[in-house]
Amino acid sequence: MLVHGEKAMVEDVVLRAFALKDHALDLYVSPEHLFVPNAVSRLFSKVVEIGEGDTVFDIGTGTGVLAVWAALHPCRRVYAVDPVWEHCELAARNARRYAVDGKLQALRGSLFDPLPDGLTADVIIGDVSGIADAPGRALGWYSSEVPAGGGDGTEVIVELLRQSHRRLRVGGRLYFPIAVGLSDDEKITAAAEACFESLVRKVDVWFPLSDEEYDVVRCCLPPSLLAKLRQRGSRMAWNGHIYEATRPRS
Ligand SMILES: C[S@@+](CC[C@H](N)C(=O)[O-])C[C@H]1O[C@@H](n2cnc3c(N)ncnc32)[C@H](O)[C@@H]1O
Repeated sequence: MLVHGEKAMVEDVVLRAFALKDHALDLYVSPEHLFVPNAVSRLFSKVVEIGEGDTVFDIGTGTGVLAVWAALHPCRRVYAVDPVWEHCELAARNARRYAVDGKLQALRGSLFDPLPDGLTADVIIGDVSGIADAPGRALGWYSSEVPAGGGDGTEVIVELLRQSHRRLRVGGRLYFPIAVGLSDDEKITAAAEACFESLVRKVDVWFPLSDEEYDVVRCCLPPSLLAKLRQRGSRMAWNGHIYEATRPRS
């Protein structure tokens, strides 16, 4: 857990602008070492619905982009969780920058582990690592300090789905991503269907790969995943989804 005021060393910190739904934020990031918010972060902000007085969990907060964005809504409290100490440090710093540190708490740990027992949320933003280790590292999207999604990209998301039902209030919403082609999407979908009665795909976007990126990915993806990449115009592309899951099965 990040104790308020405690200092860890985060190197190469720079301020960067991020355009999210209804908010343009300048946030501290460390491009050389840590995860940098991207187009998927922005797409989350387009579909996540936060009501007045809601309690929000941002699991896999990175440097806190969605947690800070959520805290700028009239919600009650935001808990931002990440296993990487430096992510939590920057999430707390970004919260102070926007004066939302009174209601945003950055906690270091895996999934729901650092949260108080029995604490539940109206909204869980589950933008956790969902890219298989090999392409995630080879493409440079995940530095060696940041855990990616395991061998097939499903390890963190499937566990998030399994644990979420105990952490959602009645009527609560969980949002999670699937990177088709860069993870075993069928395994994630099967887990989601086993855990939730309602799944709505809120985002369905193709992300083009440069020729260099496709060469990298071709070398490290198993054929079953590689076959899910598609030609879009002149480029190969992977398909990104964001789901809203409600009504957990007990
Ligand atoms: C795709 S990044 C997204 C970060 C952030 N939401 C954003 O938009 O920039 C995935 C994040 O999940 C975190 N993560 C990986 N394993 C995790 C786990 N077991 N529990 C919580 N977060 C995890 C990573 O450290 C990383 O910050």
